[in-house]
Amino acid sequence: MAVKTSACLAAALLTQTTAAADAFAVAGQPQKISVVQRGLRGAAASQESAAPAGSWASATAVAASVAVAAAVVPRRQRKAAKLAGASMVPNKNQRTIRDAKTIVCAGPRLPEGRKLRVAVIGGGPGGASCADALAKGGCETYLIERKLDNCKPCGGAIPMCMVGEFDLPTDLIDRKVRKMTMISPTNNEVQIGRTLKDDEYIGMVRREVLDNFLRERAAENGATLINGLFTQMRMPKSEKESYVLTYNDFGDAEGDARKGVKKTLEVDVVIGADGANSRVAKEIEAGDYEYAIAFQERMRIPEDKMEYYKERAEMYVGEDVSPDFYAWVFPKYDHVAVGTGTVVDKKGIQKYQQGIRERAAPRIEGGEIIRVEAHPIPEHPRPWRTKDRCTLIGDAAGYVTKCSGEGIYFAAKSGLMCASEIVAASENGTRQITQNDLMEYIRKFDSKYGPTYIVLDALQKLFYTSDAARESFVDLCELDYVQQVTFDSYLYKTVQGNSPIGDVMLLGKTVSSLVKYNTSKVPEMRQLA
Ligand SMILES: *[C@@H]1O[C@H](CO)[C@@H](O)[C@H](O)[C@H]1NC(C)=O
Ligand SMILES: *[C@@H]1O[C@H](CO)[C@@H](O)[C@H](O)[C@H]1NC(C)=O
Repeated sequence: MAVKTSACLAAALLTQTTAAADAFAVAGQPQKISVVQRGLRGAAASQESAAPAGSWASATAVAASVAVAAAVVPRRQRKAAKLAGASMVPNKNQRTIRDAKTIVCAGPRLPEGRKLRVAVIGGGPGGASCADALAKGGCETYLIERKLDNCKPCGGAIPMCMVGEFDLPTDLIDRKVRKMTMISPTNNEVQIGRTLKDDEYIGMVRREVLDNFLRERAAENGATLINGLFTQMRMPKSEKESYVLTYNDFGDAEGDARKGVKKTLEVDVVIGADGANSRVAKEIEAGDYEYAIAFQERMRIPEDKMEYYKERAEMYVGEDVSPDFYAWVFPKYDHVAVGTGTVVDKKGIQKYQQGIRERAAPRIEGGEIIRVEAHPIPEHPRPWRTKDRCTLIGDAAGYVTKCSGEGIYFAAKSGLMCASEIVAASENGTRQITQNDLMEYIRKFDSKYGPTYIVLDALQKLFYTSDAARESFVDLCELDYVQQVTFDSYLYKTVQGNSPIGDVMLLGKTVSSLVKYNTSKVPEMRQLA
């Protein structure tokens, strides 16, 4: 019954992405799509948005990459164990394989006084959290970000558990979303969030505030912040060699016209936290992922209209607003974001944006567009995320759950998990690490979040197929039980739902609502349940 748990998860997950506008700035993409951006006032601008090409997303691909990650670890461990002379045949006088791994995996001790040097490329929530944990854990940490002065007039959604888990001061949160309205193709509205307790909410933060806070904290804990553009990386040819990174150091300079000074940096470990168009991913030939395109207009609406969105986010479904996703109106600091996304018809994104404008028209009338954005959103992790002592986190790795586009939490979490693994394996920065250690982080991340990707993928296929199915989807979300598990999964990033009664009720309701809307999905539904 895992499937239903996330039925509304897709709904509750609000679209935000860490793949910021800078994701478009990197040249040399395998495929370019042109997104025409239009303002309300008729001003038209054209922007070429580059996004990685790749195979079409599917549950199979995700399953495969999870399986590959899981399978590769033991194989490499076996190989390493053999090289180290440890027998792989367990016998009662010998250590278990687990023990053997602990021994084999520890890299050579670094010379006295020399710490493990780690460079984190990219200073978003993922990179900054990673650098913070690395610095605290005793590693010599460098955080390279090309836009330290970056100021996006933008908000982001973070689940409540992130506040505690990342020890965020509550004054970082601009808005607390407690209500979510789902709107079906026939404009049937279902209120979600009824089951929320008073102290439960989805936090809205401004990215420049959050990112800056996380970076400053990393610096306070000992990470070296570099205002620079990473350009190139020379791989080590042996275990003893270092990575040599080339970057353009901007020093204190801000703005687009600044000229940097070319510098190099030698490190033992490289973490790519550089977003959807990751240069690090290219350097290690991590492969591409399928992506969705998300389009969003930030709109300042009249105050009385803004009042309605004070604590509310809206999600619209229907063929008119997206063939395979949903469209949204989302409250920001002092304005709303109106947008939509799609994988299957990226060229039609303008049409769908027009669709959401029309559907939401009564509530956003008189709005003035203050900013237009388009982001590629990864659909599933990259085929390979680790090579030697280099690995990827966040959007660079492809950690954004399908349907949701919600990446801030997963980025920060992957950064933290990656850093913990490095700190533990290097014994607080005193030993060299190996590829095995980085694979261990991948394995843990996948086993923790992999099922979510697969489930959401299946759900998208099931629910985003026809307007009839969408009607039943919205209908389904009326259930308190669904609301509960949905918000729990979102707020706490745990899958609850061990309630047999709720499960049975849900199944009944699902089937009857599907029959009611006369879709042909009932057998499929039964199979999934
Ligand atoms: C690493 O540091 C932590 C806390 O500072 C300490 O508890 C732990 O024992 C250290 N580990 C090693 C292997 O030195
Ligand atoms: C459902 O569809 C079938 C055939 O596709 C049709 O005969 C039937 O009348 C429909 N039922 C309802 C309630 O629309």
